[in-house]
Amino acid sequence: MSSYAVEISDVTVRFRTKKRDVLALREVTLNVEPGEFIAIVGPSGCGKSTLLKLTSGLLAPSTGSVRLHGEDVTGPRKDVGYVFQKAALLEWRTARKNILLQAEMRHLPAREAQQRADELIEMTGLAGFEDAYPHELSGGMQQRVALCRALLHRPPVLLMDEPFGALDALTREQMNVELRRIWQETGTTVLLVTHSISEAVYLADRVVMVTARPGTVAGVVDVDLPVERDYGRTMADPEFARATQHIRDHLGAAQAAVVGD
Ligand SMILES: Nc1ncnc2c1ncn2[C@@H]1O[C@H](COP(=O)(O)OP(=O)(O)O)[C@@H](O)[C@H]1O
Ligand SMILES: [Mg+2]
Repeated sequence: MSSYAVEISDVTVRFRTKKRDVLALREVTLNVEPGEFIAIVGPSGCGKSTLLKLTSGLLAPSTGSVRLHGEDVTGPRKDVGYVFQKAALLEWRTARKNILLQAEMRHLPAREAQQRADELIEMTGLAGFEDAYPHELSGGMQQRVALCRALLHRPPVLLMDEPFGALDALTREQMNVELRRIWQETGTTVLLVTHSISEAVYLADRVVMVTARPGTVAGVVDVDLPVERDYGRTMADPEFARATQHIRDHLGAAQAAVVGD
């Protein structure tokens, strides 16, 4: 048994349709330790979402292999949580009922699920809003609900695909701080796709840089910042400047314009 939470080994993904033949990812290898926070950055269309879909088993590689906790991924996995840019909440259900949807779909014991939902509501600062409907919630609040729903079944691996891309800058910062704290509290392994280099460096232990299509891993940056990351202090930390600059240089000037904040 391997000790990795996620093992992506020499994976190539080719999409073949009648009109097109797209090589989305080429020979991508990535090993993630349990509890690690990984951020993935790269230009649009380089295969970032494809990488997350592979990890969750929603998509099979053309060649190569994907393993979760030492087990080959052969189909959709139940032990992952997924958060997308759009919260995708059901308008006719309250925040709490949206969170509990996860339990209903998985037929989890109701009482335990309710307890976990209440814990997560507390942890994410949704207390007081559990009975609100999605249209009564701000974008940030809606993403908190989506995060609670993704964490309800205590997934060892959390996949986040540009989760804060639609939020305003201040809300996004606040969500970054909260996500970092929630990750510390839950101990879950996180793979986060983002267009923001500063978000990637603030949040992650390692930042994976993916090149334009066909996506390959151009490099991995170790972020040598303390575990406790006060937002303001981190922004002023020389290591933060070094890591963000390194990523900008690596992705290239043209691409940096695409992926920059
Ligand atoms: N199901 C699919 N069928 C055909 N092409 C696809 C499919 N999914 C993704 N692609 C193509 O693969 C490439 C990578 O897509 P994606 O992983 O969504 O990129 P990113 O998330 O980095 O923007 C893109 O060129 C996209 O058009
Ligand atoms: Mg994408």
